Amino acid sequence: MNVKIVKNLNDNGNILALTFFEDEKVLKSSSRDLDNKLKGFVKDKIFLAKFGKLYSACVSDMKCSKVLLVGLGKKKDLTLEKVRKIIGKIVGFTRSEKRNNFSTDLSEKVAGLFDAEDLGRAFGETLELSNYGFDKYLNKERHKKKVEDVGLIFSKVGPKFLEGVRVGKIIGESSNFTKDLVNDHPGVVTPTFLEKTARAMEKKHTKIKVKVLNKNEMEKLGMNAILGVARGSVEAPKLIIIEYRGGAKSEKFKAFVGKGITFDSGGYNLKPTGYMEDMKCDMGGAGAVLGTMRSIAHLGLKQNILGVIPTCENMIGANAQRPGDIVKAYNGKTIEILNTDAEGRLILADALAYTDDKYKPEIMVDLATLTGACVVALGYFATAVMGKDNDLCQELVVAGEKSGDRVWQLPFYEDFHDHMNGSISDLQNISKEGRGAGSITAGVFLSKFVDKARWAHLDIAGSAFFAKAHGYNQKGATGAGVRVLSYWLLNR
Ligand code: BES
Ligand code: MN
Ligand code: ZN
Repeated sequence: MNVKIVKNLNDNGNILALTFFEDEKVLKSSSRDLDNKLKGFVKDKIFLAKFGKLYSACVSDMKCSKVLLVGLGKKKDLTLEKVRKIIGKIVGFTRSEKRNNFSTDLSEKVAGLFDAEDLGRAFGETLELSNYGFDKYLNKERHKKKVEDVGLIFSKVGPKFLEGVRVGKIIGESSNFTKDLVNDHPGVVTPTFLEKTARAMEKKHTKIKVKVLNKNEMEKLGMNAILGVARGSVEAPKLIIIEYRGGAKSEKFKAFVGKGITFDSGGYNLKPTGYMEDMKCDMGGAGAVLGTMRSIAHLGLKQNILGVIPTCENMIGANAQRPGDIVKAYNGKTIEILNTDAEGRLILADALAYTDDKYKPEIMVDLATLTGACVVALGYFATAVMGKDNDLCQELVVAGEKSGDRVWQLPFYEDFHDHMNGSISDLQNISKEGRGAGSITAGVFLSKFVDKARWAHLDIAGSAFFAKAHGYNQKGATGAGVRVLSYWLLNR
């Protein structure tokens, strides 16, 4: 999508989106000429500018095909997230009108209310995010039109806004890259496919090196937790490691570890109908890591960053893992598998322990569609964060708020820390105290596999995949994690 800054508003675009605050006494767009043409709407109080309200009209004597009046609500109530939603609405309207370009005065209207760079990022990201569609398997006629050109009027435009747009576009495109991986079906997106995706990134970016541990190497290293999960599948498990070196040689890595279950049937604790259909999304953490690495590479960050992806399928079969099996993980701890559907924590256990041991990163953040309990607790509009390192959790909460890829902290009380202890093994993979606080006890399990690094866990079970469209997100994958991690890094 091309974004152009225009100094003056004209009506040359297909769609001309004019934005208005509810409390403006006289509805005023950024152009007197247009105001004259639109007088009727204003005088007749046809349009009241409530937040998110749209009013479209064909206006004779204008070159654009339609004028769209957009309500911003009360000026004092406007937030950056609301600006994102408005951008999503304008893009959505343009697409539904089967047009490929629009121009708007939104940028000019809200300019003084936010930091210029933050605002630019919000524009760049949301224009890309809301222009997405997964239509690979749809007949051409059903492909949704994409916006190709956007004209933003901004007479006071400064370099900060433009830089924000550039960065935001990269982050938005990278989120869409993640969405493609998560939306595609599990027959395509296998562990091998994720490896290929990482290798393609290695080819494209000189600062990226990819290493992949295969099943044999995992056996030698004693990664029996991931090997156990993979046993029921014909797809071979992999541990994909993406090294990005943008910082000094001596600088320690920050590592992102993403759950890459390419399909979660539940294993012998088979998921019932209604719970299995969307389980292609169970590599959402892996997708977020790949998208974040793409974002980092395109932004050219001067930091050393590691993307780690344990990936396999969770299936049934004669060789599949049984409830009751005991496995020994990479760090030597034994785990009794009391539920084969609690598999994400098992593959992450080996990945976290290995990364911590081999790379000695300064910080590890894992991302996983880990628990249904997280969806029960927070729903779809926030990722859960937890860990013993409160400062790190709070940094992620702040980055989440700023980016719109929201993160909410759950308590990680000491009281929970023995809930995953086993009776005949060091640990068990479901809580001995039952289902309460299921997201937190899953996090507690993961914490037992981190020894040295500062660590936080992000549960994206709700935020990664939407049952229906909401705001600027379509139904299906959202790219959760890419924005918050990109912002967090940019802030460091
Ligand atoms: N992948 C699921 C969690 C999930 C549920 C992600 C819904 C996205 C949407 C995970 O592997 C799982 O099955 N977790 C179990 C854990 C339980 C057995 C302790 C769950 O949440 O039911
Ligand atoms: Mn599961
Ligand atoms: Zn799972």
